[in-house]
Amino acid sequence: MNGKDTKSVPALADLIRISKSVGGKASFVQGGGGNTSVKTADGKHMYIKASGVPIKDIGERRGWRKLAVASVRAILDAPDLRKMAEAEREAEVVRRLQDSVADGAPGGARPSVESHLHALLDRCVVHLHPVAVGAYVCAKNGKAQLQKLFGDDDLPPVWVPYTRPGYMLGAKVARLVAAYAKRHGRIPGVLFLQNHGLLVTADTAPRVVREVSRVIGLCQSGLTQPRIRSVRRPNADAVAAAQTSIRRALWETTGRRLAVKHFIDRAIAGFMARPDARQLVSSAPLTPDELAYVGNSAMWLSASAATAVARKIEAQIRRGEWPSAAFLVEGLGLFAAGSDRTIPIVREVTTASLLIRGHAADVGGIRSLPKVERQFIMRWEGERYRRQVAVGSEGGELAGRIAVVTGAASGLGRSIAIGLGRAGASVALADVDREAAAETANMLREAAPGASSTVVVCDVTAERNVEAALRAIRRRWGGVDILVNAAGIAPAHSLVDLPLAEWRAALDVNLTGYFLMARAAARLMIEQGMGGSIINISSKSGLEASKSNTPYNATKAGELHMARGWALELGPHGIRVNSVAPGNVFEGSKIWNPGYIKMCAEKHGIKPDEVIPYYVNMTALKRRITGQDVADAVTFLCSDKARTITGQTIVPDSGQVMVR
Ligand SMILES: NC(=O)c1ccc[n+]([C@@H]2O[C@H](COP(=O)([O-])OP(=O)(O)OC[C@H]3O[C@@H](n4cnc5c(N)ncnc54)[C@H](O)[C@@H]3O)[C@@H](O)[C@H]2O)c1
Ligand SMILES: [Zn+2]
Repeated sequence: MNGKDTKSVPALADLIRISKSVGGKASFVQGGGGNTSVKTADGKHMYIKASGVPIKDIGERRGWRKLAVASVRAILDAPDLRKMAEAEREAEVVRRLQDSVADGAPGGARPSVESHLHALLDRCVVHLHPVAVGAYVCAKNGKAQLQKLFGDDDLPPVWVPYTRPGYMLGAKVARLVAAYAKRHGRIPGVLFLQNHGLLVTADTAPRVVREVSRVIGLCQSGLTQPRIRSVRRPNADAVAAAQTSIRRALWETTGRRLAVKHFIDRAIAGFMARPDARQLVSSAPLTPDELAYVGNSAMWLSASAATAVARKIEAQIRRGEWPSAAFLVEGLGLFAAGSDRTIPIVREVTTASLLIRGHAADVGGIRSLPKVERQFIMRWEGERYRRQVAVGSEGGELAGRIAVVTGAASGLGRSIAIGLGRAGASVALADVDREAAAETANMLREAAPGASSTVVVCDVTAERNVEAALRAIRRRWGGVDILVNAAGIAPAHSLVDLPLAEWRAALDVNLTGYFLMARAAARLMIEQGMGGSIINISSKSGLEASKSNTPYNATKAGELHMARGWALELGPHGIRVNSVAPGNVFEGSKIWNPGYIKMCAEKHGIKPDEVIPYYVNMTALKRRITGQDVADAVTFLCSDKARTITGQTIVPDSGQVMVR
C-alpha cells in the first residue's frame, strides 16, 4: 500500500502483532468482518485495517490505511453533517473518511466504515463479530445476560443499543463514551454492539489481545455447544440434484448464473438436527453482515425441486428483500451460491448465524435486525459497496457460467480457457497433463485475477474418466454451461506410411473423445434445463483437406458433422452446438513441433524456418492467427450474442478457407 519502510513505525508494528494474534483464532473471527487499529504515540494518526482485507492478512506493506485522527473525529462533530439528509450524509461521510487518509497512497482500498468508532477509543482497538458475542448481542435478553456475566468486572462493559452503521453509530458511541467517562473517570474498555459485535480497547497491544481473549472466553462459558458426534455424508446424487435445482431457481428468478456448492460439517449438522431449526432460520437476518454477504437468512428447504425453490426466492423478491445465497436442505446440509471468492464468505457468515441463532434461542430468543434497519442497510451506500464486493462485481459476458475445456494444458485449449475466464466464466481445465494444466491455471490467475479455475485430470478417450470429470465439476460448482472440445492430436504421415495405431489414436482422441465429452455434458445440460453451449474445435483441415494428414482430415471433418447433428438433437433443449475451425496457430501448440514443421517443409519443398511465413502468406489478411483470436470466436459463440447461432462453423483463419 505504501512503499516506505514501515518497520520503524511502532504503531504499525503493534497493529500487525494484534491482527496476527486475534485474526488467527477461529473462534474470534468466525463470522467474518471486524477490524483493528492502533494510534501513533502522539495520538495524531491511526493505522486501521483497509476494507475488504481479512484481519490476519494485514502486513507491513498492505492491508491498512493511515488516517488523521482529528479529521476522523471532526466528521462526527461536523454540524453540517448532522443536518444533512441521511442518504446524502452517508455518501459524504465516505468521502470525508477518504479525505482523512494520510498515507500518501491516494485511491486504493477504502478505510473501514467503522473508522469513527476507532477514533473515539484508546490507543489499540479490536472490533470483531465473534459467534460467542453474537449469541448475546442478537438475543432478546442479551443485555441482562451480559451484565450478569461481567458482574465482577471493576468497570462495567457498555451496551450499545442497535444503531445504523456508519455516521449514526459513530455519533451514538461518542455520546455513550463521553457519558461513561464522566461517570467512571475513564473511557470504557469493552463495548457490546447490539445485532453487531464487540469492541475492545486498551493502551497496549498485549493488553488489548488479553482482554479480547477474556471477553470472548467469558461469553463462550455461558453457552452450550451443539451436541453432535459425527456428521453423516449425504447421498452424492441427492446433493448434486439439489445443487442443480438451486442453481436453476436462482437463474430463473434473478437471471444470474451462479456456482452452488454443498457443505456439511458439525456446526451445520448440529444446527439442522435441532427440532426448531426451521423456525430459527425463519427470523430475519441478525446483523448487517448477514444481510450484506448472504442477502437474507438461510432459506430452509424440505424438498429441493427447482420450482419450489424458485417460488420461495420469488416471494423474497416480492417482499422487497434480497434473495438468499444460502439454503439449508433437509437431510443434505448447506448450499451456498456465488463465486469461488464469495462462497466461502457465505458459508462462514451463515454458519456463524446458525450458531448464533441456536445459542440466542437458548438464552432467551433471537432478536433480528428490525425491518426498517434492514431496509436502511439495503439502501445505504456503504453497505451497497460491501455487498458489491461480496456478490462480486465479476462481470463479463460469460459471468457465472461454468465451462469445461479439454486440452486446456496447451496451445489452443489453453488460450480458450484463458479467454473464457477473462469473459467471467469459471473454467475446468481438463487434460491428461496435470502439471501443464496447473500452469494454465496460473496463467489464468494472472490474466484474470477474479476468475476461477480448477484442474481436472481426464483422458477424454476413457468413458469412466469423462464421467468422473463431469461429476467433479458438478460437485465443485453445481453444473456446467459450456463445453469446449479442444483436446486433439495430429499424427502426420503420408497415406502410404501411416501406421494403423496412429490412425486409431487420432480417431480415439479427436472423435471418440469429442463424443464422450459431449454426451456427458449434454446429459447434464438437459437435466439442468438452462440451455448451454457446446463448441467443437475442428480445423480448416476439416473443411479443406491438407496433404499427408489422413487421420486429421478425417477426424476434423467428422467433428464438424457431429456438431451439426448434435445441434439438431439438442436444439429443443436450448443447447447450441457450433464449431470453430481455426487456421494455423503456431503459438504454444505442441502439434506444431519441429517434426511436424519438417514434414510441412518437405510437403511444400521449403526450408523448416520458411514454413510459418509460407502459411501466413496464404491468408487473405496476411496475418498470423493467435490463440486469443480463436478464444474470441469461442467466447462469442458461447455468449448470448450468438443466441440464434447453432450448427454453424466459424473460421478464424485470416481468410484462407471460406465456408458457404
Ligand atoms: N494449432 C493449430 O494450428 C490448430 C489449428 C486448427 C485446429 N487446431 C485444433 O486445436 C486443438 C488443440 O491443438 P493444439 O495445437 O493446441 O495442440 P496441443 O498439442 O498444443 O494441445 C493439445 C492438448 O490436448 C491434450 N490431450 C491430448 N490427448 C488427450 C486426451 N486423450 N485426453 C485429454 N487431453 C488430451 C494434450 O495433453 C495437450 O495439452 C486440436 O483439436 C487441434 O486439432 C489446432
Ligand atoms: Zn462491525
